[in-house]
Amino acid sequence: MSHVGIALTAVALACGLLGAGCARGEARTIPTGAQLYAACESCHGADGQGKVELAAPKLAGLPAWYLTRQLQRFRDGTRGKHPDDERGLRMRAMARQMMSDAEVEAVVGHVAAMPDVEVVSTLPEPDPGVGKTDFAACAVCHGEQGEGNESIMAPRIAGLNDWYLASQIRKYRTGIRGGAEGDDVGATMQEMANKAVAPERIDNLAAYIQRLAE
Ligand code: HEC
Ligand code: HEC
Repeated sequence: MSHVGIALTAVALACGLLGAGCARGEARTIPTGAQLYAACESCHGADGQGKVELAAPKLAGLPAWYLTRQLQRFRDGTRGKHPDDERGLRMRAMARQMMSDAEVEAVVGHVAAMPDVEVVSTLPEPDPGVGKTDFAACAVCHGEQGEGNESIMAPRIAGLNDWYLASQIRKYRTGIRGGAEGDDVGATMQEMANKAVAPERIDNLAAYIQRLAE
């Protein structure tokens, strides 16, 4: 897209989102990350803490590289396009409002700078022994403390919402996430979700991983 194109869509977006600065000839700059985040706040919360009642996960504490990748995937349909992915479809619509790579970068810069927040548990207290045993298979890629490993594109998972972790593991199992054509990275995780954890222990493992950040 040309620079003019980017600027025009940015202004159009700012007008739509903020209802301000829309007069012809006003500054044609890309909205700031904070301005763009105004469209995310209703679901992900002002501090990126997420809202369980809307099934929108916490974003605070996620690194820029992972946020960028996921937004790109929601935009290109490798994530959130599966007909059974009701929550993903909601997020996909939002990601598609980010008109350009420059806007993705701006909003990601804002989110990645948010201080981490602790989330409330929604699943029963995990059995730490069983959690530890099951987590060993995950630590290979996600790190001993679930801190993530950018070099293999495995994100930080420690401290994410327990309900969200459980839902994603289940989505990978069924291929709702990680099953799209061309999603090699997701396919790796899909294989792990099928091999490394028994279905009846997913909730326990998710509760364990949330607490790794405490
Ligand atoms: C209508 C509610 C809604 C809005 C508004 C929204 N999101 Fe989301 N978002 C969701 C839901 C629901 C999910 C979880 C999708 C899933 O379960 O796979 C999600 C997931 C995400 C993820 C993936 C998190 C992860 O750990 O993989 C990112 C990143 C994200 N949203 C960023 C944003 C940004 C940036 C904006 C603003 C441009 C935004 N969202 C606006 C509902 C929303
Ligand atoms: C072979 C390396 C590997 C192993 C082992 C692995 N993962 Fe992953 N995992 C990944 C990669 C790569 C991604 C990013 C996939 C994507 O972008 O969709 C990922 C993504 C995830 C996500 C999504 C995070 C988010 O914010 O949406 C969760 C949850 C997850 N893994 C949990 C686990 C659990 C639990 C285990 C152990 C049972 C595990 N992983 C084992 C590589 C791995």
